[in-house]
Amino acid sequence: MIFGRVKPLDAILATAEKKSLHRSLGAIQLTLLGVGAVIGTGIFVLTSAAAQYAGPGMMISFIVAGFVCAVAALCYAELSSMVPVSGSAYTYTYAIMGELLAWMVGWALILEYAVAASAVSVGWSGYFVGLLDSSLGIVIPTDFANGPDAGGIVNIPAFIIALLVTWLLLIGTRESAAVNAVLVTIKVAALTAFIALSMPMLDGAQFDPFMPTGTGGVLTAAAVIFFAYVGFDAVSTAAEETKDPQRNVPIGLIGSLGICTVFYLLVAAGAIGAYGAQPVFGTGGEILIAGSPELAARCAALLAAGTEPLACSNEALAHVMRAIGYTWVGNAIGLAAFLALPSVILIMLFGQTRIFFVMSRDGLLPEKLSAVHPKWKTPYIVTMITGVFVAIAAAFFPVGRLAEVSNSGTLFAFFMVSIAVMMLRKADPHRHRPFRTPAVWIIAPLSIIGCVGLYFSLPLEAKLVLPVWGGIGLVVYFLYGYRRSNIARGIIDVHEDDPDAPPQPVPPMPDAHTPGYKDA
Ligand code: ALA
Repeated sequence: MIFGRVKPLDAILATAEKKSLHRSLGAIQLTLLGVGAVIGTGIFVLTSAAAQYAGPGMMISFIVAGFVCAVAALCYAELSSMVPVSGSAYTYTYAIMGELLAWMVGWALILEYAVAASAVSVGWSGYFVGLLDSSLGIVIPTDFANGPDAGGIVNIPAFIIALLVTWLLLIGTRESAAVNAVLVTIKVAALTAFIALSMPMLDGAQFDPFMPTGTGGVLTAAAVIFFAYVGFDAVSTAAEETKDPQRNVPIGLIGSLGICTVFYLLVAAGAIGAYGAQPVFGTGGEILIAGSPELAARCAALLAAGTEPLACSNEALAHVMRAIGYTWVGNAIGLAAFLALPSVILIMLFGQTRIFFVMSRDGLLPEKLSAVHPKWKTPYIVTMITGVFVAIAAAFFPVGRLAEVSNSGTLFAFFMVSIAVMMLRKADPHRHRPFRTPAVWIIAPLSIIGCVGLYFSLPLEAKLVLPVWGGIGLVVYFLYGYRRSNIARGIIDVHEDDPDAPPQPVPPMPDAHTPGYKDA
């Protein structure tokens, strides 16, 4: 029974104990880490998509998405403090639910990380194109600055930035704490300027109608804007390096999510109140889907007539600033996004290569994929393959669509983690838990309900991607991993999961009766 193929938790923990990182992070550092990883394309770009789905009601969407993330984050934190090794949700699932489900989670995480990297590349492109135009007067033709669905042919800036970041990763670039601190400051300063300048111009009339597309629209916007909160797992995975994790991890998680939620709400209120955020309807009054060719065509017509609603903008925040008379602030916000968003692409691509790396170490993907470059000391094959796919997706798909697909994978991973945390409480109640999810029997079910609810609120196409992708994953698993995985071959070794370390030879251990090995 393949569900019994569990990677023993003790073996995983033995690896973690060997690492034994210095506990140096406090609540404030953790919170900043979270804020740095979270703020990105979601707020800078997808505010437009949220406006298209929900109008001013997107303020509720931000709260709903933030709440689901908060409860999922608390579940994540318990497992990551217990199993503080690479691979995040994939590794937790392997230890608790077995190989097949772990493979499915790892497969879904490809959607989360790789597709998110594409989404952020497209988001960056929108700001880059706008910045070139408004500050230097250089116009990149629409055909070459947008994918087909967004009214163009190919998004060349998005393609190039994805490849550039891949190249940085290939040669071993990692974001240092100092660079992260600078980028957090830039992002927070840009959002603060936006709020400070838009708030005095709030016009109550812009909030009416508040929910032009009803509750359904608000939930769809929540499912899309969920992307704006993704990345907080950076806090969970730092649990092992945290002083007093029982106290500081929840402060870091809830603190960073809380700060981002407040910023997002204020930014949304500023954009709605100072500029307006009503959706763009079709000529027949129908609701147009964000990122669809129909919306792109309607927006082109509106632009030709001299108006550009928020829902049509590729650089939502800069656009609002310019429209309300602060051109140079708009350009500065564009510059902030231009500088800061590539680091989010880097984090996502790095996460993706790391997941692939761990999966290939477990034998679920060919070991060749995790080959380390002799000079750069990075897993170059997997990085190059990932980078090329990410760049191609960025070149041809609109940001909203990519974010929605990424969210479907993320929601699946969070859903599994929320189940896993309860299963482990039952199966192994006495194991040491550096951080315990508070009220787990309430929080974890809330997280499950939230993840399922948001998943079903996604637009239809995004909803369909997950089962189709999952089906492909199942075929790949039964053709390859089912026979080739370390566990299938009786290997229980747990490697140091460090992509910078050269690959370890597979130890000769063809004994399926090792304690802890289960394949019923
Ligand atoms: N939360 C990250 C962003 O919005 C992924 O870009």
